[in-house]
Amino acid sequence: MNKVNIEKAYELLKENKIVAIPTETVYGLAGIISSKQALELIFKTKGRPLFDPLIVHVSDIEMAKTLTDNWNKTCDVLARAFWPGPLTLILEKNNKVDPLITAGLKNVGIRMPSHPLTLELIEKLNSPIAAPSANKFKKTSPTSALHVHEEFGEAVPILDGGSSEIGIESTVAQVFENEIVIYRPGKVTAGAIKNALLMDGLSHIDVRYGSSPVAPGQLDEHYRPDVPLILLDANSPYEMMKNKVMEAGIKREKIMSFKLPSSPELAARIIYAKMRELSKEKPSAIAFYLPTSIHTDENWLGVINRLIKASSFNFLSI
Ligand code: TXA
Ligand code: MG
Repeated sequence: MNKVNIEKAYELLKENKIVAIPTETVYGLAGIISSKQALELIFKTKGRPLFDPLIVHVSDIEMAKTLTDNWNKTCDVLARAFWPGPLTLILEKNNKVDPLITAGLKNVGIRMPSHPLTLELIEKLNSPIAAPSANKFKKTSPTSALHVHEEFGEAVPILDGGSSEIGIESTVAQVFENEIVIYRPGKVTAGAIKNALLMDGLSHIDVRYGSSPVAPGQLDEHYRPDVPLILLDANSPYEMMKNKVMEAGIKREKIMSFKLPSSPELAARIIYAKMRELSKEKPSAIAFYLPTSIHTDENWLGVINRLIKASSFNFLSI
């Protein structure tokens, strides 16, 4: 594995190269924002189309403010409540942000991650870094250095920071004057955002889930493992799974099932690793059994969103 320490990662980024970095959500494939060469290499390495924008990672609020001229009280409240952490704010970009990063859009996604190694790296660089998840386009995000190595081999140097604690990508939310729209659900829920706003006297700002009118990054078929994934209710009878599998034209002999833990935090931490681990056994399909709490607890939204996409909508009665 092509592991590098923080000093080497710093040097490589300074030389316009790319490095895989650990974050608390998933690993990112990073390049310095002022380097066209690094930005182009990110898209090329991932096989990502240029129309899908990258998010920019900062080490403090002051650095975030250098990327937008529209930082307002709402941004301050959200950044103070959730940064460093799994919340990406979509704001109008200024001319410090290369249009390559935003795929020509007028907005940029900004996040301050909480992994200490990556924070130290950004601070040392004294510059924001652009980083999408460190996986091939449409595939499962990596939550460990080994996963990154499995995606890209020796070609990508990796700053190993252990397993990602949260395990699914950040909540992506656009900040408007009177509302906040969540385009990608994650650990930071609409409820948590509402609470934070309420505590700071911003209760008039509405918070809702919606789809992005401009960024096509949220494709339906995303996060896919190498073999088909089927989702089932914890109580689905075995027969039902077999029928579903036959309907989907999948061979029945070797289906590997896994029962998700009943805590959404624990489930988030392991879903991607489980998909990878079970895929390696070369089963004809993977079946995930979901706990009944998914129907009532908002904290499951992020996990369910990823699983439904990873299964390419191959789910049963959830
Ligand atoms: O947790 C995360 O967000 C991880 C770690 C590495 O920080 N990063 C990540 O990046 O998941 P990526 O590129 O795989 O996903 C970012 C999402 C994409 O769905 C993209 O379309 C959306 O954020 N996005 C980025 N910039 C946007 C913009 N200007 N407007 C709307 N959506 C945007
Ligand atoms: Mg991604």
